[in-house]
Amino acid sequence: MRFDNRRVIVTGAGSGFGAAIAARFNAEGAHVLLTDINADGMEAVAAQLSGPGKVSQAICNVAEEEQVQAVVAQAQAELGGIDVLVNNAGYSHLNKLLWKITVEEFDAVFAVNVRGVFLGCKHVIPVMIEQGTGGAIVNIASIGSVAPRPGVTPYNGTKGAVLTMTKGLALECARHQIRVNAVNPVAALTGFMKGATGVDSADMTDEAKERLVSTVPLGRLTEPEDVAAAVTYLASDDARFMTGTAMNIDGGRSI
Ligand SMILES: NC(=O)c1ccc[n+]([C@@H]2O[C@H](COP(=O)([O-])OP(=O)(O)OC[C@H]3O[C@@H](n4cnc5c(N)ncnc54)[C@H](O)[C@@H]3O)[C@@H](O)[C@H]2O)c1
Repeated sequence: MRFDNRRVIVTGAGSGFGAAIAARFNAEGAHVLLTDINADGMEAVAAQLSGPGKVSQAICNVAEEEQVQAVVAQAQAELGGIDVLVNNAGYSHLNKLLWKITVEEFDAVFAVNVRGVFLGCKHVIPVMIEQGTGGAIVNIASIGSVAPRPGVTPYNGTKGAVLTMTKGLALECARHQIRVNAVNPVAALTGFMKGATGVDSADMTDEAKERLVSTVPLGRLTEPEDVAAAVTYLASDDARFMTGTAMNIDGGRSI
């Protein structure tokens, strides 16, 4: 299998994209360490995994350096090292015009979506360098990073920062054969929607869903499995000559 005995950390693995990403890696042979701030969600996801690899869990806020360091130590102790890091944990502030957003809301979303990616990379890359066998990092950005829409401007700014860091870091890591890529999904009906719109995905009206779908040429929203397929491709040896790229998982929304 593509990821036999590879050691993978997935942040925000207790829901949505992260859950599907962890499941796909696990099904393809990887040992997976799931991390999240939502212990119940993570437990439920872990219980569903039935692949051949080990499954570990850690409660970790990606914005907190000591918690990230503890996760890295746990991966080394329980999985024997780290070959892949997926920086997936993230959220959006409520949809509103930039001038209605408080400094606290702005700082909070940058802390998770940008500092979280920074901390994951900062503490995983030295381990990968020390191992001497290369590695892959995949960052979950958003199509809003390259084709923003109104109402989520600071959020889209966090994802723009993630894309720029992806490219710069790809250069910094290249001589160690550590590749750094990103994916840009379009909207999905995951837990994310509650934060961004104030309404649970399950409670969204057909009209609200149709408004989102109408912007996507392929005529539907992102499924978590779409993201899992792209992330595992970018982390696999099939993408061994790809670094510093961002794949749009957007059904053509950004054309
Ligand atoms: N759903 C969308 O429309 C959409 C579109 C583009 C990009 N994204 C991005 O995809 C990623 C995954 O989102 P999702 O759609 O699966 O949402 P989700 O809410 O279903 O899952 C996100 C997970 O991240 C966890 N999380 C949140 N803050 C955290 C923190 N500080 N530390 C650790 N874990 C934390 C949550 O508990 C949750 O389990 C996010 O980075 C999001 O910005 C989502």
